[in-house]
Amino acid sequence: MLFADRNVDDNLISCNKVILLHGPPGTGKTSLSKALAQKLSIRLQSRFIKGILIEINSHSLFSKWFSESGKLVSKMFSQIRDFVEDQKFLVCILIDEVESLAHAREKCMSGNEPSDSIRVVNALLTELDKIKIHSNVLIFATSNVTGAIDLAFIDRADIKEYIGLPGVQAIYQIYYSCIQELLKAEIIQPKVIIQQCPDLVELESSDIYKNDKKLLKISEASVGLSGRSVRKLPFIAHALFLQTEIATLENYLEALLFAVEYQKTNSKYF
Ligand SMILES: Nc1ncnc2c1ncn2[C@@H]1O[C@H](COP(=O)(O)OP(=O)(O)O)[C@@H](O)[C@H]1O
Ligand SMILES: [Mg+2]
Repeated sequence: MLFADRNVDDNLISCNKVILLHGPPGTGKTSLSKALAQKLSIRLQSRFIKGILIEINSHSLFSKWFSESGKLVSKMFSQIRDFVEDQKFLVCILIDEVESLAHAREKCMSGNEPSDSIRVVNALLTELDKIKIHSNVLIFATSNVTGAIDLAFIDRADIKEYIGLPGVQAIYQIYYSCIQELLKAEIIQPKVIIQQCPDLVELESSDIYKNDKKLLKISEASVGLSGRSVRKLPFIAHALFLQTEIATLENYLEALLFAVEYQKTNSKYF
């Protein structure tokens, strides 16, 4: 936006306004894109009267009529341009699971895929090149299978960020937020305080941090699971490994550890 304000020639310094978040499923790529769009619209309040998030449903763009899909993509972008042309709007476009729209063309050509998917990719690339002249637009794309995305699309992404599985600290934070919620709902009773930051817990030798340490151990045991799986475990712990509706934190954490082991054993089969 600064470059556009200062009339930097985009033939000399180019920016496609595309951010690609890629990595394993359930690591928060979609959530992160939406959160970024919201943050931006708040931060840029003085510049834009409104922030708009447009989510593209890639699957709806494939027509049952042969060769029509490319046209559907163009039609959708012309609708988007109606918003973009109003400089008072910040327009964020989310192309979730972009591999279904920007499917690698070389793969289409070698297999039996209809050439319709090639037309879709071509249309998408052309539309991206057209929309980039606007400084009030930002495109977020996410993908679980980076290998399946067309290279020409990847090349257009200015920022390509790998979003990996959460580490111990992040997992601890997720469990912490879940436990706070269960304390609030009085499913875990009585009220107890646990540390939000695991660093302190590790150093402290006294017994008052007994539960915090246990939670840290559980977080270490959960490494390898996605954020989405981790967020589900507090529910599974209650549903499968607790015999009572209400539990003490101590009992609940025991159930949570069982749930982690259950999840890990299960994921071996898939
Ligand atoms: N790092 C994380 N921290 C907190 N929650 C997370 C994290 N990663 C994933 N989640 C949880 O998993 C859910 C699914 O995330 P999502 O954005 O759909 O992942 P993706 O798009 O990468 O498959 C989110 O709603 C969130 O609750
Ligand atoms: Mg997603």
